[in-house]
Amino acid sequence: MSGFFRRRIAAKLGRALQQPEDVLIPTVSAVSVSKKQISADFRLSVSTLRANGFLPSSGDIRQQTENLASQMKCDNEVENISVDREMIFFTVNRKLLVQKMLEPFEKHEDVKFGFNSELLNTLKKGTTLVEYSSPNIAKKFHVGHLRSTIIGNFIANLKQSLGNNVIRMNYLGDWGMQFGLLGAAFDRFGSQEKLKQNPLQHLFEVYVQANKEAEHDDGLMQAAQSFFRQLEQHEPQALTLWQQFRDITVKEYQSIYKRLGIHFDVYSGESEHLGQVQEVMQQLQSRGLLKTSGNGADVVDLSPDGDLSSVCTLLRSDGTSLYITRDLAAAVSRRRQYQFDEMIYVTDKSQSTHFQQLFQILSSMGHSWSYSCQHVPFGLVKGMKTRTGEVVFLEDVLDEVQARMLDNMSRSKTTKELDDPEDTAEKVGMSALITQDFKGPLQADYIFDWDRILQSHGDTGVFLQYTHARLHSLIQRNQQVDTSEFDPNLLQEQASIAMLQHLLRYDEVLYQSAQDLQPKHLVNFLLKLCHLIASAHRVLPVKGSLQDVAQARLRLFHGASSVLSGGMKTLGIIPVDKM
Ligand code: ARG
Repeated sequence: MSGFFRRRIAAKLGRALQQPEDVLIPTVSAVSVSKKQISADFRLSVSTLRANGFLPSSGDIRQQTENLASQMKCDNEVENISVDREMIFFTVNRKLLVQKMLEPFEKHEDVKFGFNSELLNTLKKGTTLVEYSSPNIAKKFHVGHLRSTIIGNFIANLKQSLGNNVIRMNYLGDWGMQFGLLGAAFDRFGSQEKLKQNPLQHLFEVYVQANKEAEHDDGLMQAAQSFFRQLEQHEPQALTLWQQFRDITVKEYQSIYKRLGIHFDVYSGESEHLGQVQEVMQQLQSRGLLKTSGNGADVVDLSPDGDLSSVCTLLRSDGTSLYITRDLAAAVSRRRQYQFDEMIYVTDKSQSTHFQQLFQILSSMGHSWSYSCQHVPFGLVKGMKTRTGEVVFLEDVLDEVQARMLDNMSRSKTTKELDDPEDTAEKVGMSALITQDFKGPLQADYIFDWDRILQSHGDTGVFLQYTHARLHSLIQRNQQVDTSEFDPNLLQEQASIAMLQHLLRYDEVLYQSAQDLQPKHLVNFLLKLCHLIASAHRVLPVKGSLQDVAQARLRLFHGASSVLSGGMKTLGIIPVDKM
């Protein structure tokens, strides 16, 4: 694997710089494969070495590069060392490259290729709590919730693959005045029967109607307030109805998440930590951080000069809590319960200020762990519509993805006979949606376009799935060929070497994603891999080749397929075997 070579090069560098090789491993990078056919595999940037204090940062950098390169000698493993401006390039022995890179794929099983590298071992491991999806009961599941769901799932998968203990948490919007309205309105126009038949739809309808009526019906507003009071006072009848709404919603969501291959370890929510609100308020009080505002609300002063020029309200004058108050209480009790080493919140960027304030207040309360809390913000998506109109439920998106993909598949000449075309269409369609969503920086807004994302050519999720299915069928068709042994000399064609050179970068890509939690590195790596697989597929046929050539080529494709499916799963894409 790439670690083998990186260590060899770091050792040479270490001797030249009189430094231990371990600290130098991260400075050795694999070269990106390009059309220019660079034969080198690794590079060292002398300016990076200078920036990291391994070389004096004064003096002529080109001269420094030349000097350093001349102190490193080639051997049987690293066959060539060359210089280009401020870069030193290394080419490793070709036979060894093939052998080392394909070593992990001796058995036909899922391998953790890339994930157990020395580079990734330098990352801290511990308990990571990832909070994502977090829809609001009775309200719309909008595109923001969809993005939070898939991005959070990716982060949780990645952290888990890197060896962390991951807690996947869904934090439902299950408290607040809207439940007063919902409860009061349900008495008037709700139906238990409809609630059982189509829970999310019915709750949403009741809620929408309630909001409309409340505009001109003071009686309903009063009933809503009284219902919410009853809830806050834990009045059993009100609480039972609320609990029913919540249970039924969770159950429904669980089955929809399942279609996406997503699960949560914990369904928490805003209602859960109300008991801790008092405790938080007392802590703030005792630290002298609480102030009373002009209208009688309890506020925290966030201004740098302590002049109340920037405040955050925590309790209304009637003593009820707000969104941020509940988040404070939730953070404190999560830390107590899970002892997490880091906590990651995934929501759209409109909530960035909210999380900044949350972390600031936690820190001013003396919770030093607030520095291990992080908000991962993402941009807005415009124009996601279904054929029947607006997206209201997560299910709408899935149904639309499925219908459109099924349509495309029925028109495509390459579509195979499938046992369950709906299921395949949904998985391929979701792959398309996720790939599009993950290609750019998460913070960017984008305009949604069904036709563009569902294209089978170009850099789409359909292309990822298509490549995976093709490899799967190639491997299936040649099951009788034993690939446990192979001759690396038979994989020296440019197409094969380029693919293996690309795989050298895999752990670096995962490392980058682990650093900034952006899925774009992995998505673009896999798309490029698929292009390299397509080229290799064209020029390295298995069928009709001599036995030993077929063996070697299959081993190569097996490795590619294993990395591709592992990478897709990390992204939250369910690979299909046939399409
Ligand atoms: N339910 C919220 C919403 O839909 C998102 C919750 C985000 N998480 C949090 N801890 N505030 O906007």
